Amino acid sequence: MKYFLDSAKIDEIRFAYENWGIDGVTTNPRHVMTSGKPFLKVVGELCTYFAGNENFPISVEINPHLETKDEMIAAARELSSMSKNFVIKIPCTDQGLAAAKSLNETGIRTNLTLVFSASQALQAGRIGCYYVSPFVGWKEASGEDCVPYITDIVDIYRGYEFKTEIIVAALRNGKQIVEAALAGAHIVTCGFDVYKESFNHPFTVHGLSIFRNAWDNTARE
Ligand code: E4P
Repeated sequence: MKYFLDSAKIDEIRFAYENWGIDGVTTNPRHVMTSGKPFLKVVGELCTYFAGNENFPISVEINPHLETKDEMIAAARELSSMSKNFVIKIPCTDQGLAAAKSLNETGIRTNLTLVFSASQALQAGRIGCYYVSPFVGWKEASGEDCVPYITDIVDIYRGYEFKTEIIVAALRNGKQIVEAALAGAHIVTCGFDVYKESFNHPFTVHGLSIFRNAWDNTARE
């Protein structure tokens, strides 16, 4: 399963790329806002850092105020022309789905975002999106168990041999990452701190202190 970093902060992205071997990046308007930088500055930094590494996918979202298919297509084309790394995030609305279908047909890679049901994900696969992003954290925050929802999407995609890759998104902890892996998702995308926490365990720290103590109380020769 591939690990994407959900962030628009270039320092985090650089660290995660160099030290964790992340396989891609996803951004959204909220991440760009929290980076504290203008949208085009963030986009420019990403283009520069990953120039020459065309196989590293970076999802960039169109202006969320756009409502019509034609507006979305125009914005997606403009973003897509900036970098071969870019995959364009389109919201899963009626117009968004129509825009994504048209973009997919013309070879512009799309990531259908704000997906909250298997029926939405099914349509993303049918129309040939490059990625589909079913959100988990937002649903689980309101008391829903997302394991069946992700498992259903994976089963449907396998059954129909859709090429679309499933990015399980908005994950909040290591348990949800493992659940996505067990369901057979292709990719997860998480924030920097979620990955960091998932790589650690308090018993590792505790065990290390036991072993250090033992080391210090053992003769070298
Ligand atoms: C996914 O592509 C989204 O960027 C992301 O997961 C959105 O959710 P969050 O910002 O609440 O984690």
